[in-house]
Amino acid sequence: MPDVLFVCLGNICRSPMAEGLLRKRLRDAGRPGRVASAGTGGWHAGEGADPRTVDVLRRVGADYPHQARQIQAGDFQAFDWILALDRNNLRDLQSIAPIDARAQLALVLDPLGGGDVPDPWSGGPRDFQRVHDLIHDALDAWMPRWHPTA
Ligand code: 4NP
Repeated sequence: MPDVLFVCLGNICRSPMAEGLLRKRLRDAGRPGRVASAGTGGWHAGEGADPRTVDVLRRVGADYPHQARQIQAGDFQAFDWILALDRNNLRDLQSIAPIDARAQLALVLDPLGGGDVPDPWSGGPRDFQRVHDLIHDALDAWMPRWHPTA
């Protein structure tokens, strides 16, 4: 399993959703793997995931102890994949990626044709469920790429 880092803006809503869902998949499949998440911004560093993300993760048995953090230079060497939740996040990552980065940068939704997982921050529970659903479907498409025999 490659080492995967999910990145959104605040690291409290979308990328923790993605981290929890991929952690659960690996746990269920009995596969080891390094999964983490970070924000392009650091305003929420040290906080837990947004309660609305936690609600969804709990419901699907994918809750985990999250502590928000900002992306750092070493992440580009420490991970195989850095998956951005939206195109702004991807642009921000591209602007700070070192030339010799180990990590491949992509959008979480690339296997589904690209586009954004919309920021649910100012939305409601339905928006967080939509975040879950988009990431769930994207992981269905990523898993066989990472594990051709799975
Ligand atoms: P996230 O959502 O990027 O999915 O974690 C947001 C969380 C906080 C803010 C924006 C988006 N904020 O502006 O504080």
